[in-house]
Amino acid sequence: CGIVGYVGNDNCRDIIIDGLKKLEYRGYDSAGIALIDKGSIAVRKQKGKIENLERAIAGEKLYGTTGIGHTRWATHGVPSDENAHPHSNQDESIAIVHNGIVENYVELKEWLMAEHGIHFKTETDSEVIAQLIGVLNKGCLEDAVLAAVDKMKGAYAFAAISKDEPGKIVAFRKDAPLIAGLGKGCNFIASDIPALLKYLDKIYLIENGEMVICTPEKIQIMDQKKNPIKRDVLQVTWSLEDAEKEGYEHFMLKEIHEQPKAIRETLMRRLDDDDQIKLDGISLTLEDLENFNKIYIVACGTAYHAGLVGKYAIEKMARVPVEVDVASEFRYRDPFVDDKTLFIAISQSGETLDTLAALREAKRKGARVLSIVNVVGSSVARESDDVFYTWAGPEIAVASTKAYTTQLVCMYLIALYMGKLKGTISKEYYAEMIAELKAIPEKVEKIIEKAGEVEELAKFLYNRDQVFFIGRGIDSAVAYEGSLKLKEVSYINSFAIAAGELKHGTIALMEPETIVIALASQDRLFDKMYSNIVEVKARLAHVVSIAKEGNTKIEQESTEVIYIPNCADEVTPLLTVIPLQLFAYYVARERDEDIDKPRNLAKSVTVE
Ligand code: G6P
Repeated sequence: CGIVGYVGNDNCRDIIIDGLKKLEYRGYDSAGIALIDKGSIAVRKQKGKIENLERAIAGEKLYGTTGIGHTRWATHGVPSDENAHPHSNQDESIAIVHNGIVENYVELKEWLMAEHGIHFKTETDSEVIAQLIGVLNKGCLEDAVLAAVDKMKGAYAFAAISKDEPGKIVAFRKDAPLIAGLGKGCNFIASDIPALLKYLDKIYLIENGEMVICTPEKIQIMDQKKNPIKRDVLQVTWSLEDAEKEGYEHFMLKEIHEQPKAIRETLMRRLDDDDQIKLDGISLTLEDLENFNKIYIVACGTAYHAGLVGKYAIEKMARVPVEVDVASEFRYRDPFVDDKTLFIAISQSGETLDTLAALREAKRKGARVLSIVNVVGSSVARESDDVFYTWAGPEIAVASTKAYTTQLVCMYLIALYMGKLKGTISKEYYAEMIAELKAIPEKVEKIIEKAGEVEELAKFLYNRDQVFFIGRGIDSAVAYEGSLKLKEVSYINSFAIAAGELKHGTIALMEPETIVIALASQDRLFDKMYSNIVEVKARLAHVVSIAKEGNTKIEQESTEVIYIPNCADEVTPLLTVIPLQLFAYYVARERDEDIDKPRNLAKSVTVE
């Protein structure tokens, strides 16, 4: 979900709608706005795209200089006009927009109905906030907000307006993103930076347990006891163009193309003039590293797949056992974590609730927490002992591409740094790997230059029902990501498996013309992989192999081969994933799918 709010002197209807559009990438199923208009609150909301809402209000003279807006992604209550935000209280004197979950909403709802005779209009947990503030409001919105927060359990950020106090927005944060933006003669609140980039570049990050009161003149941040909090202004360096498509047909394609730059940036920020890795702002010492007897890498989705590659890199270079887990599993299985554990959380948004909860669980058990995060000031970043930022810039397409490759770069840097400090790798090996990494951006560019070949392949294969991805070693980790990418954007049933496991079940599904994408980039495992290709080819599968340049032997058994530039086995994931991203993109385009916003998916999953 996304939140935007404006308070100033102009009609904010279009400002809020525009801000909401910038948050579309978070995923949503409905949208709405509320404006304080001549002593009453006008609420307009609509299921579906923001364009539906725009169309619905196009003929209206909707005016207001204070307003809030919202894009909703259903958690409680189906997507519908009614369940969309903003929500109002009984007498419509209050309106709120909310992101997150009120866990005790059933209990609160019962109390509001029994004690205050409230009739609920929707099935949402969010309406409870509006009704609560309504019954607790004694004429001062911020006091009512704090009184409501006192009764609410869960993870949320919300913003409220009152018809009796025009020119004021009160917002509160607890475990969901919230920022306040400093405009000229106006101020804003939002859940995310891109919503405000067009209007300002100075923001305050609001912390958990804080309330923010915005008027056209000032932004006040307070704790729950109304003590004022002084916060430094954060200067945002992301440009608006970064958050827009720059002429590409889709954000996903733009972001695939941005990878050479993003990889270079992430790498160069961490290398000094002598190619030594600098961990500015990171407090891990040699003693700490020697103390760790285990590393957990925990994440969701694509970030989890980056963790799978991280395991190979860290175990090889730093010689520490690494377990990789999906956050939703880790947090509930009482993992073996103590003060000798390094816990690495990976998250593009830094707001994924499961990842955040896993991080807290690891911390509670005494682990040291290092996170790899793209969004500065996000919750995961703030709750970690140390942060390794990816420099991918804003990633808008729901299907992650440049976040993944920059996460891989961070994994390699961490592995090399640990290996060098602990003496588990030689100076020569270190230098060789750094040189390999530095050569990657140019090699990625070369693959992207040949995107037309992948496009042709996609045009030929786009209407198949299922695709299998196979690989060995580090290639199997990339196979999972290639498969996820394809299913996310094309809705084709795709499946990834370690190639050696094929014969234990999955090979039963091979039929003439079944598509198998075989990653065969590992010199060390090439012969084994070759046998797997032979196995599926014998069942008349259509095999698309991905191999290093010059490895022509593979052509004998493959229907098509996509070559990647030569590189060390360790760093192939940074190259092999590129044609897989392109394949997913072009297949989805051929199928005419909503590539940047696939159905049922959200960019940032801030609910369990
Ligand atoms: C969602 C997105 C995925 C992403 C995952 C983890 O499922 O659709 O693209 O990989 O969340 O997100 P994070 O922001 O924690 O990396």
